Amino acid sequence: MPTLTEMAVDVLTAADGREKTAKSRAHAATWFAARAAGKPIPLGDAQAPLRPSRPAHPELLDPRDVPKRKPGSPQGRIALLHAVAHIELNAVDLHWDIIPRFAHVAMPPGFYDDWVKAADEESKHFNLICDCLEALGSFYGALPAHAGMWRAAEDTVDDFMGRLAVVPMVLEARGLDVTPGMIAIFRKAGADQAVAALETIYAEEVAHVAYGSKWFHFLCGRHDLDPKDAFHTLVRRHFHGALKPPFNDEKRAEAGLPPDFYWPLADQPVPGTR
Ligand SMILES: [Fe+2]
Ligand SMILES: [Fe+2]
Repeated sequence: MPTLTEMAVDVLTAADGREKTAKSRAHAATWFAARAAGKPIPLGDAQAPLRPSRPAHPELLDPRDVPKRKPGSPQGRIALLHAVAHIELNAVDLHWDIIPRFAHVAMPPGFYDDWVKAADEESKHFNLICDCLEALGSFYGALPAHAGMWRAAEDTVDDFMGRLAVVPMVLEARGLDVTPGMIAIFRKAGADQAVAALETIYAEEVAHVAYGSKWFHFLCGRHDLDPKDAFHTLVRRHFHGALKPPFNDEKRAEAGLPPDFYWPLADQPVPGTR
């Protein structure tokens, strides 16, 4: 039986997207079956690669060179789904990477439960969006995608709290802001399969942000840090650029992210304070 860090490395070193998500889902099932049986899988000490393996396609381009397409056209909607698939595949790797990367930091078993569950859900999200692309005659890899999505991982490679601040509490929280608009685009186009997939993603991503906030606060408590101040310091250190309103205040609150965490990092003044 492999250790949890060996399972993570097995996912991270799988290049093909569908193969990566199949391994991810199988390992998650093994982890939770062992937890339910009262025989948890040991963490082990397998080392994460600096970068995860990726398929030969999509071609990865500088964000400025990725063609912009209008979502009003069928091609534009395929491009939007393709971008979401790319984000979800990165999310699978980000969730598995944190386990071996910071295995030297002692954490309660519930931390690993949360990350393995989120990794399993990201794998489901990638598969759902790939199914949508394939139903529309496309596939993941058919279009170029953003390079540099792994930058957040590399920038926080030796900063566990920085990783939690930037990945779940900034990047995944941003997903809560933009997903309702995407759902509206596909609903208007009558694209039921994509609407259903995005609604699943929207519902499950709230918990991913909440896991980030929960364990960030846990570590602040361990180190006697003020969570809001620590969050601001770490996001300014590791995240490049300001946070972009409008924010989904309701879902962010549900995920344990209050306005005084994110508004001071925005590129606009807090509403009503000018
Ligand atoms: Fe996701
Ligand atoms: Fe997520």
